[in-house]
Amino acid sequence: MRIVFMGPPGAGKGTQATRLRDDLSIPHLSTGEVLREACRAGAKFGCQTSAYIEAGELVPDETILDIVVERLDQTDCQTGFLFDGFPRTVVQAKELDRLLGERNLAIDLVLELVIEIDELILRLSLRGRSDDTEEVIQERLQQYDVLTRPVIDYYRERNLVETICGEGTPDEIFARIKVAVDKVGK
Ligand code: AP5
Ligand code: MG
Repeated sequence: MRIVFMGPPGAGKGTQATRLRDDLSIPHLSTGEVLREACRAGAKFGCQTSAYIEAGELVPDETILDIVVERLDQTDCQTGFLFDGFPRTVVQAKELDRLLGERNLAIDLVLELVIEIDELILRLSLRGRSDDTEEVIQERLQQYDVLTRPVIDYYRERNLVETICGEGTPDEIFARIKVAVDKVGK
């Protein structure tokens, strides 16, 4: 299965994608994690992109698409994958469609996690990553509203979106996700 996790910062994309990865035995790609890991490892593109992350702004599409193209052709992605935090702009979504189309593949399901703003601010402030300050969270939310919500509309037009309540315990949320995934049933 080819699944995209969407949702604002702190919605639980990473938490739930990790669980679903284990359940479905398909790889999980978080572009945010790749960027943070590249920065920790001192890779050139990691250092170049850290300023965007620290400011809560999106990294340029070309950088993200380079990461994705390379990952898509690795052997473990041939039976499916879970994207988390990608695509985040309509440009990225269209390019993903083109890349998959070239390989006779397509997205099967988009899981949109929804959560109240107070709850996500609480979760992120408890976690305390360097981009989890109040000011940067506000910028991340703004970027999500302006640049990423249109991606959900793009997929909704193709009936790919299942909206999942992202509040409750991780187990409760995962049970809702499983119902949506089983419905697609690939
Ligand atoms: P990214 O790393 O993707 O961050 P994000 O989307 O802002 O969201 P988070 O990872 O913070 O939250 P999440 O939804 O994964 O929730 P999580 O499970 O961690 O992106 C970071 C930056 O990288 C971007 O701002 C941008 O600069 C750049 N970037 C990445 N991808 C890009 C792209 N495609 N294009 C351009 N730029 C890109 O949970 C959050 C916290 O809540 C955790 O502490 C968790 O333990 C806790 N939690 C989870 N579930 C629950 C629950 N049910 N109850 C209580 N606590 C919970
Ligand atoms: Mg995440």
